[in-house]
Amino acid sequence: MAERPPGEQDAIVITAPGGPEVLQWRRQPVPAVRDGEVLIQIHAAGINRHDVNQRRRGPSPAHSDVPGLEVSGLVVAAGADAGPHIVGSRVCALVDGGGYAQYVVAKAAQTLPVPAGLDMLAAAALPEAAFTVWHNFFGVARLAAGESVLLHGGTSGVGTVAIQLLSALGHPVFATCGSAAKVHAAQKLGARQAFNYREDDFVAGVISATGGSGVDVILDMSGGQHTARDVQALARRGRLVHLSPGSSDAILTSLRTIMVKQLVLTGSMLRPLPDREKAAIADDLLRVVWPLVETGRLRPVVHACLPLAAAAEAHRLMEHGQYVGKLLVTPDASAATATSESTA
Ligand SMILES: NC(=O)c1ccc[n+]([C@@H]2O[C@H](COP(=O)([O-])OP(=O)(O)OC[C@H]3O[C@@H](n4cnc5c(N)ncnc54)[C@H](OP(=O)(O)O)[C@@H]3O)[C@@H](O)[C@H]2O)c1
Repeated sequence: MAERPPGEQDAIVITAPGGPEVLQWRRQPVPAVRDGEVLIQIHAAGINRHDVNQRRRGPSPAHSDVPGLEVSGLVVAAGADAGPHIVGSRVCALVDGGGYAQYVVAKAAQTLPVPAGLDMLAAAALPEAAFTVWHNFFGVARLAAGESVLLHGGTSGVGTVAIQLLSALGHPVFATCGSAAKVHAAQKLGARQAFNYREDDFVAGVISATGGSGVDVILDMSGGQHTARDVQALARRGRLVHLSPGSSDAILTSLRTIMVKQLVLTGSMLRPLPDREKAAIADDLLRVVWPLVETGRLRPVVHACLPLAAAAEAHRLMEHGQYVGKLLVTPDASAATATSESTA
């Protein structure tokens, strides 16, 4: 049952630039809901690499100092034009910060019903990865039927959704990962072949696995480390989509190869996308991706869900990188799950 929202709530705030210890518990006002928005009583929130980078940069006037870009929960108040999301609906949403809290406001057009058969916890692991995968493969790279893909970060939150979704849609999926355990996990999720980027020659691997042609699209989150080799691994008219600018923000690669193969090098950032583009992605997710979740073809992979009060610990786990899928936090401590660092 949806409860009437209180005036104040507990939230985790970035108090200074720094390590996980700068994430501190604070009392905050519950945000007011406006037209086209819903107020969500949060069941769980996803932890994203973005949050770690935001924490390292510190508080900023540009964004909420409460991190968190995706949540699941119950709608407890709805503004005018909130569409189908009436009070009491079970939803998950992409939010513009504010997820590490008890309540958050979301744009109704970036809010989706929890897919039938999926629990509320797992639903918090879907929005950021699903929006990112859909936008980059189908919006930016224009992935066509049957085209092959290579994903770096095959066991990341984004990678675990991408492998399952693209395999279910009939695309041959290849992945790279940073350990043997992660290579195994990526293959179990449906990757045709996965490579340990620390040891294997992934270029030779995908060229051989595609009969000499290379892959059509690469999604790269290595911050430019693999760009020169990605260009070698792409097929003629292939597209390379960058998700992370990395620390140097510069790439060095073969212009000749780009020209000969007519490659496209591009990238995108989800958070600054115009609302109408995010709404269009949400419509596509509901139409194509949610049915795959409801039939069990795609399941968000949740490594662990920690109590909201342990958000700093969740950031430490993310920085150690020894997990597969998503890390979550929950304001309902009884919904937290056990955690271990040993699975990857
Ligand atoms: N641009 C956007 O709109 C957008 C949206 C969402 C996410 N992202 C970015 O996408 C990435 C995944 O997000 P997430 O939250 O799912 O992060 P995550 O779970 O923390 O995963 C980060 C991944 O990056 C991989 N990686 C790091 N360095 C690598 C390298 N040199 N070669 C290959 N893989 C490497 C890691 O692989 P191993 O652990 O196997 O080493 C890990 O799987 C992050 O970089 C995030 O910032 C961007």
